[in-house]
Amino acid sequence: MTTAISGALTTRLREARSVVAFTGAGISVESGVPTFRGADGIWAKLRPEELASMDGFLKNPSVVWDWYAHRKKIISAIHPNAGHYALVEMEKKVPQFAVITQNIDNLHRRAGSKTVFELHGNIERNYCMKCGKTFTDEFVLAVAGLPKCDSCGGMVRPDVVWFGEMLPEEEWESSVAAAEGADLFLSIGTSAVVYPAASLPLLAKRAEAYVVEVNPEPTPITDKMDEFLEGPSGEILPMLARVMERERGGSGAAAHS
Ligand code: APR
Repeated sequence: MTTAISGALTTRLREARSVVAFTGAGISVESGVPTFRGADGIWAKLRPEELASMDGFLKNPSVVWDWYAHRKKIISAIHPNAGHYALVEMEKKVPQFAVITQNIDNLHRRAGSKTVFELHGNIERNYCMKCGKTFTDEFVLAVAGLPKCDSCGGMVRPDVVWFGEMLPEEEWESSVAAAEGADLFLSIGTSAVVYPAASLPLLAKRAEAYVVEVNPEPTPITDKMDEFLEGPSGEILPMLARVMERERGGSGAAAHS
């Protein structure tokens, strides 16, 4: 595990005016949320095309709903971890800070992050596929059988992005703008294999951000990063937040040397 922060990264933690934290399933592992890939990942046991696609939903809506109901219950019983909270602390110190997440678990917001762009939706939201009416988890989890819209009778689905579906336009455009404007870009707990989200670290790099990957394992983009911090985000991110706190002398604004 990485235990020391380089001089180059320390300078960025002190001086960056715009910071982006791009997160994947790995940041929620220490909260008890399984990742998707890897030996014990979700997709090692279950078939994404059956559970996370429109085809799969139309073919077998109750199987898909059972699975999402199960995930909603797991996620409602867990809490953000030290990695999520470290990003909240960093946001307080940097004039422009954004979390861009692929996660649907809402843990960044629950930790207190203010600027959060959700690229793959949010499991705590649901909507009618016919009229667009939105529904709470309370409503969808209380229904016996398939949840149906109480206005038009349409099928209700979780507000998450399934394979083959477009990302929410506003979230995507805000994420691209944040990545292109970043001085420091942290790619945290993602295998960086699902596009278009995985293009963001490379976009930031091309826009001359200092890009740093945080992961216990290398990924396909590691050799394109300025730095690779090897280890769990729940340990490494608090370390970065402490260095930022120390270097900025507790002040909010960027300390100019
Ligand atoms: N801290 C940081 N990273 C971790 C930790 C940890 N404690 N534990 C595991 N990781 C890393 C793994 O090494 C892996 O690189 O997190 C990554 C998780 O990768 P994936 O499971 O592929 O998750 P993610 O990159 O978020 O997947 C992208 O794919 O299935 C779809 O829509 C889903 O948003 C998801 C997208």
